[in-house]
Amino acid sequence: MKPLSNKHLSIEESKTLAINAKANALKESGVKVINFSSGEPDFKTPAFIREAAKGFIDQGHIRYTPSAGIVPLKKAIATKLKQDNNLSYDPANIVVSAGAKHSLYNTFQVLLNPGDEVIIPTPYWTSYPAMVELAGGTPVLLDTTDSAFQISTKKLESLITPKTKAIILNSPNNPTGTVYIQETLEKIAEIAINNDLYVISDEIYEKLLYEGTHVSIAALNEVIKKRTITINGLSKSHAMTGWRVGYLAAETDMVKAITNLQSHSTSNASTITQYAALAALEGDESEVAHMKRAFEARRRMVLAKIERMPHISVNAPSGAFYVMIDVRGLFGKKFEEKTIKNATDVAALFLEKAHVAMVPGIAFGCDDYLRMSYATSEADIKEGLNRIERLIRTLN
Ligand SMILES: Cc1ncc(COP(=O)(O)O)c(C=O)c1O
Repeated sequence: MKPLSNKHLSIEESKTLAINAKANALKESGVKVINFSSGEPDFKTPAFIREAAKGFIDQGHIRYTPSAGIVPLKKAIATKLKQDNNLSYDPANIVVSAGAKHSLYNTFQVLLNPGDEVIIPTPYWTSYPAMVELAGGTPVLLDTTDSAFQISTKKLESLITPKTKAIILNSPNNPTGTVYIQETLEKIAEIAINNDLYVISDEIYEKLLYEGTHVSIAALNEVIKKRTITINGLSKSHAMTGWRVGYLAAETDMVKAITNLQSHSTSNASTITQYAALAALEGDESEVAHMKRAFEARRRMVLAKIERMPHISVNAPSGAFYVMIDVRGLFGKKFEEKTIKNATDVAALFLEKAHVAMVPGIAFGCDDYLRMSYATSEADIKEGLNRIERLIRTLN
């Protein structure tokens, strides 16, 4: 039989989902696994949103909608972008999709020609390089590990070639929790304008910010706004991962192209979900604030516990619900005659011997770290990190 397309054969399973599957298999065999690999809030979607959604089904909001989304939702998103981000967009400049992931996928599809380069700060969210490649582009990695996960604008400039088309920004960041400061964003905006680059700004963790302020790069000035595609959604802020709703705001040409693409692929995001998202955005944010406070308390707990452990360290993150644990201090140590060589070995050891799942940094482009998600209970954080501490104190 003839093979599948080269493009698709080169794409691997998402590594973050793979570790989750491994942890779940172990769990199903009866082992008490503590799972720190999850990329989603562990809270229920707020009750007022769930209740509203049930009502919308009964009211008959169950038919196709315009591909780019229902007008009241696009209006509510435009209001949110104005209030939270100081961004003025007409509802016609917004496209609602089946998750921010879908918004990003659509963006790369309409933006890239074969060979176009996209600069991706590394560690990166695991899907960015795959999405760029699926659109025919070439990922160019910008290492941030030696600058406390902040972007070095000098390094950024050194990576720009005539083929560079765009840079991806993700602040607060998955997997590092880093928040880019305004001065860095200003410099990046200047570089993007001077080099004719697009900026894809993924702001999905905007509401989970514990230090500093969130700045949308598109809000810096009208020139950079024209070059920026701002991506956001309700998965992380409103614990709505499974509902699948995200959106982007951009210039008219981009919005037209994405709407056309979406009209021939998925059509509209689920109608029921769009109405639920409308209820979420029109509701008050007390539940969002409540979840943020819980994440904040867990973050403090994680940092305090890791601080007192030997051989591993973290760079205190300012947002999201992840920490990147530097495990280089464990390299060269032995466990049962096996020498630890990289973070993938550490992740395997933690899962096999402590029954604690974390994602090896290789999933994010660097094998010196593990990503720990604290979207889990305080009891699990305590138990899981105690297990890790006991295990690493036995290594020599
Ligand atoms: C950085 C980043 N962007 C986008 C997404 C996609 O979110 P959604 O559920 O809206 O597709 C995620 C989800 O993990 C993420 O971590």
